[in-house]
Amino acid sequence: MRSSSLLRLLTLVGMFVAFLLPATSAQASAPLREHAAARGKFIGAALATGPLSNETSYRNIATTEFSQVTAENAMKWDATEPSQGQFNFSGADAIVNFATQNNQQVHGHTLVWHSQTPGWVQGLGATAMRTAMQNHISQVVGRYASNATVVSWDVVNEVFDDNGNMRTSFWYNTLGQSYIADAFRAARAADSNARLCINDYNVEGINAKSTAMYNLVSSLRQQGVPVDCVGFQGHLAIQYGFPGDIQQNMQRFADLGVQVRVTELDIRMQMPRDTAKDTTQATYYRNVINACNAVTACAGVTIWGFTDKYSWVPDTFSGQGAALIYDENYQQKPSYTAVHDALAGGSSSDTTPPTTPGTPTSSSVTSNSATLTWTASTDSGGSGLAGYNVYREQGATDPQLGQSSTNSINLTGLTPNTQYQVYVRARDGAGNLSANSALATFTTQSGPVGGGCAAVGTVQNQWNNGYVVQPVTVTNSGSSAITGWTVTFTLPAGHTLAGSWNATLTTSGQTVTARNAGYNGNLAAGASTSFGFQVTRPSGDTQTPSGYTCA
Ligand code: XIL
Repeated sequence: MRSSSLLRLLTLVGMFVAFLLPATSAQASAPLREHAAARGKFIGAALATGPLSNETSYRNIATTEFSQVTAENAMKWDATEPSQGQFNFSGADAIVNFATQNNQQVHGHTLVWHSQTPGWVQGLGATAMRTAMQNHISQVVGRYASNATVVSWDVVNEVFDDNGNMRTSFWYNTLGQSYIADAFRAARAADSNARLCINDYNVEGINAKSTAMYNLVSSLRQQGVPVDCVGFQGHLAIQYGFPGDIQQNMQRFADLGVQVRVTELDIRMQMPRDTAKDTTQATYYRNVINACNAVTACAGVTIWGFTDKYSWVPDTFSGQGAALIYDENYQQKPSYTAVHDALAGGSSSDTTPPTTPGTPTSSSVTSNSATLTWTASTDSGGSGLAGYNVYREQGATDPQLGQSSTNSINLTGLTPNTQYQVYVRARDGAGNLSANSALATFTTQSGPVGGGCAAVGTVQNQWNNGYVVQPVTVTNSGSSAITGWTVTFTLPAGHTLAGSWNATLTTSGQTVTARNAGYNGNLAAGASTSFGFQVTRPSGDTQTPSGYTCA
């Protein structure tokens, strides 16, 4: 064949191949927003109006990489209505205009919050405060109601305290809880199309606060209050551990029928920054993106800024920083690559699976639960270790018993008096799975006849001088219903209780007795409930309680 006909043939083949590729597929090296779009998700950033107006590098990255933006401060009450009835939309408009030019969505943040709200609002009496709130929502949401760029709003922000009680803000103290439903109704009245969200922090995993949020959203929707979406802020820190159940938590909200989103992601570290911390941070970023990828109702992830040059973290959390995906010189960090690869579907170059995990050892075996621990794997392929899958050896298809982001797991819901053979496989950020570990064998204890009870506590979160145990899962491991339960456990010396939820806790020395609350004592055979508690411990002590028994 003459070379010119060969060329023509190759061109035709090339056109045909290009035609076969889906229109949405993105080049491996494409910016974040292209990969997110190929998944039907957004990837966003909070923007500050200062650098947006006077720094080219800032503007270029904001334009190129992100498909969604949130005003870091410009749409808050102190910016938009500093004195009563005097509205100022200069900052808000600057953000919205920038987004319109760049084909980005704007998430409006935020209408009703206890912070960054002028004194004149806080001093009003109940009737005037409710009217001021409704007017503020009506003016701010109304301004952008017909603007296709502004698609959603944080209607209320941070309405819970850290234990999951209603935050006793000036809103709550003056108006009671009804301000929340009123705010949503006012927002819907001002824009019938905008997606209306409730937003909070420390609700990424399943804990007392996220459960309070879950109950509130469920009850508001049952009453017909227009809550369309739940925002998980996602202000994480590598020294506090990753909320390993973030995907499960998002899914339970999604199952209520709401959209979910991560609204303010940043992952801080104790300064100074180093390679090991950067790697952990990258893993956390990847895990968040993977969780959103895995939940259909998750619309996307917004990062709270993008460059360490402009981040609220150093000003707010003393000694901490480097929380974002570009450094202060606008260079991409490992966390950028992690976000990129998770959106792109894993690093295309990483086909190397992690090393095989060590043989698991079992401990704390009860009639329906067991703890497994194994020697961690390592990953050299570039995408990083993402976690582990635990399987039961059962012949042709081995059911997965659970997933863990650490080299340990607490298996629950096991059958009494049954032999289990289990193995572990490590997973990297590109989805490569290691070989199977060797098998561990254990046999669950026999279940009591009649009513029975078993308790297992999981440390959810710990820091230098304290920790949260959540959930303590209480299971009726017997064969008939029980109407109450008592769990006892021992706190290490020097540890003191700092709070609890969903049970009544009393202490005698270091022994803690937890009795069911009024609403969670009745358990059918096999049913479970849970409670949680927080403890203060001496700085540097790493112990946590053990020996949960239930009667
Ligand atoms: C922060 C901004 O980043 C800072 O610039 C400002 O000084 C304080 O507020 N939760 C929220 C955000 O909902 O609005 C907060 O933003 C961070 C915590």
